[in-house]
Amino acid sequence: MPKKKKFARESLVTKTELVLPNDTNTLNNLMGGKLMHWMDIASAISAQKHSNRIVVTASADNISFGQGIQLGNVVTLKAKVTRAFNSSMEVHVIVTAEDVPSGRKIESNQAFFTFVAVDQSGRPIDVPELVPETEEEEKLYRSALQRRQLRLVLANRMKPQDATELKSIFFDPDKK
Ligand SMILES: CC(C)(COP(=O)(O)OP(=O)(O)OC[C@H]1O[C@@H](n2cnc3c(N)ncnc32)[C@H](O)[C@@H]1OP(=O)(O)O)[C@@H](O)C(=O)NCCC(=O)NCCS
Repeated sequence: MPKKKKFARESLVTKTELVLPNDTNTLNNLMGGKLMHWMDIASAISAQKHSNRIVVTASADNISFGQGIQLGNVVTLKAKVTRAFNSSMEVHVIVTAEDVPSGRKIESNQAFFTFVAVDQSGRPIDVPELVPETEEEEKLYRSALQRRQLRLVLANRMKPQDATELKSIFFDPDKK
């Protein structure tokens, strides 16, 4: 039976939070772990919307914290599935922080999460194909295969020689 198809836009999730005193460190900056928790939730809901299944977090790619998010800022997380494979889905999450009184807004973080759709016993189960529509969605869709192979090689779940999209990184074509 052919796989069901769903548009990327159908998985869009927007989550808004206010940074309260309990969320911050002693410098009044949002704690990294708290932000990762919000990122995990927003992207898990996105993967659930795509798959209409229970999902579990399989991995989160390098999340960096370039700029602190201040107490009182409004944090907006936008998550969308970039590509679906067999049972797994890659989700891109972008975080912006806004100081509402001044209107100052920064894009503070972004990351790629991978979720796996599972059945009631926790076994991986196939998900619909993802159809990108916009130029940005198509760009993320195309590059998702490279990111998938890199994370599977790093997790020791794929041999570097099987990572077809990464040969130029792992193997020098000029070396005999
Ligand atoms: C994720 C999990 C379901 C994978 O189960 P598994 O028995 O190893 O299943 P498989 O080897 O068949 O892999 C299933 C999918 O997971 C993907 N996957 C497994 N480990 C991965 C990793 N580290 N990073 C990205 N994807 C991963 C595989 O690529 C595969 O994707 P595909 O079906 O689209 O090809 C299982 O490891 C699990 O339940 N982990 C705990 C999840 C959890 O509790 N998360 C909360 C964080 S504490």
